[in-house]
Amino acid sequence: MANRAFAPAKVNLALHVTGQRQDGYHLLDSLVVFVGIGDRITVSKADDLSLTVTGPRAAGVPTGPENLVLKAATLLRGDQPLGAQISLEKNLPAAAGIGGGSSDAAATLRALAALWQCDLPNDNGLSLGADVPVCLTAQSCRMEGIGEQITPLPNLPTLHMVLVNPGVEVPTPVVFKGLASKDNPAMEALPQEPSTLGFIAWLGRQRNDLEPPARAHAPEITAVLDAMAATDQVLLHRMSGSGATCFALYPSMEAAAAAAIVLKQTNTDWWVASGQTGSFA
Ligand code: C5P
Repeated sequence: MANRAFAPAKVNLALHVTGQRQDGYHLLDSLVVFVGIGDRITVSKADDLSLTVTGPRAAGVPTGPENLVLKAATLLRGDQPLGAQISLEKNLPAAAGIGGGSSDAAATLRALAALWQCDLPNDNGLSLGADVPVCLTAQSCRMEGIGEQITPLPNLPTLHMVLVNPGVEVPTPVVFKGLASKDNPAMEALPQEPSTLGFIAWLGRQRNDLEPPARAHAPEITAVLDAMAATDQVLLHRMSGSGATCFALYPSMEAAAAAAIVLKQTNTDWWVASGQTGSFA
């Protein structure tokens, strides 16, 4: 019997850096959503733990114990004699600010907890990475602390989105180090049950504090944002996470798909995908 889990792209619609802990980790206030574009995890029972990686973005993905998928499996089984054959279909770019590795780890925890009939880790995977707990929910959330404080936001409107990655890997620690200030204001209070346009107007007043240092490190990000700004009907465009992937919002899936075609045609080496937000756990 095989169990499957979807590992959707995570998008930080806003990401405010509000402080820093003694251990160096940064305190965040972030609005996180998930999009129906992602990796796929399949697990089946086996004597030992093993991992195979397939799919269009498999090149360069490690298959050894350093892969977050195997780290998640090892954390979950603890000292129990459990094994699984794990297959990862890699569709998302790595080190891209859309939670590829964290979402894979979270999907692995979900699939293996079902296969092995065991509980999820007490820390919801925080020890694997700060974004793993929010990826475990795979639904719209406000994320605070370093990533462990999560408030689901079930009433956000569905958003139609294009994601673009210019093919540069931006190391997260480098971007955090480049912050001009680590003490920025938290997000404004979210409107209650907002309309799509009301929500996007609110979002326009929020920020991604990691965007300026990421753009300084990788000027390609500015090229992506400029290209998004020039697309028909774009409502808002911003970088996700620590980059380099950026998102743009549109009033309909048709408008998003049309923008994706234009962006891909004019920049053939960029990774471009369109999809809509939802709940995927
Ligand atoms: O937890 P994760 O491995 O995803 O984090 C990667 C790096 O990003 C950390 O080593 C740290 O430098 C930085 N980080 C941070 N504050 C956070 C999350 C990540 O400083 N809340």
